[in-house]
Amino acid sequence: MTKSTTRSKSPEAMSRRAALGAPAALMLASGASACMAQERDNASPGSGQLVAYFTRSGNTRVIAGQLHRELKADLFAIEPAKPYPEDYEQTVQQARQERDAGVRPELKAKIPGIARYDTLFLGFPIWGETAPPIIRSFLAAHDLSGKTIRPFITHGGFGLGDSQDVLKRHAPQARFLPAFSMEADQERRTMTQVRQWLGAIARA
Ligand SMILES: Cc1cc2nc3c(=O)[nH]c(=O)nc-3n(C[C@H](O)[C@H](O)[C@H](O)COP(=O)(O)O)c2cc1C
Repeated sequence: MTKSTTRSKSPEAMSRRAALGAPAALMLASGASACMAQERDNASPGSGQLVAYFTRSGNTRVIAGQLHRELKADLFAIEPAKPYPEDYEQTVQQARQERDAGVRPELKAKIPGIARYDTLFLGFPIWGETAPPIIRSFLAAHDLSGKTIRPFITHGGFGLGDSQDVLKRHAPQARFLPAFSMEADQERRTMTQVRQWLGAIARA
């Protein structure tokens, strides 16, 4: 990862001043969405724990942020080099194609110095009844041998699909602990309700 001075506008992002005032926490950034790095304080509690997550609509980020704060663990946003479309349906379509073709999208950035971490909290939403393609890229791109991985997964009500098998297949040398999972808001459901509201406005 290259150091960047661009400020993040993402909800979990903190100002440079705030980050420097929180020595136990290292915000690792993958480019423009979360953009600072500082020297790690090796003596700090939470040393050796990293929270890495992928999110589209923010549900998984809420959990990642809480883990980051409460465990004083480092935080890393997993992002594709080429962002997914803003449009939900286009994203669903692209994700389906990538899943079916076994595509591994290029990562925007890798975790610098992953050897420092022995425990990885890995968060993502379920996409198409499995782990999003970028999670396969993430697992394949890092040496996770001997690391303990604690997955945390959000879904829209249809469960975890084969996501846990996918994790194990792409990082066979890692030690996976049972996933924490929870149902969270579905963008599609929100869109449907907003459309109903807009329809009511149009009819009024
Ligand atoms: C491309 C796409 C595919 C999805 N596929 C599923 C699915 O197969 N099963 C499910 O329960 N939810 C599915 N969802 C809903 C998300 O898993 C759920 O809303 C999740 O909490 C979103 O997390 P995020 O806000 O961190 O992006 C899908 C969402 C997207 C955008």
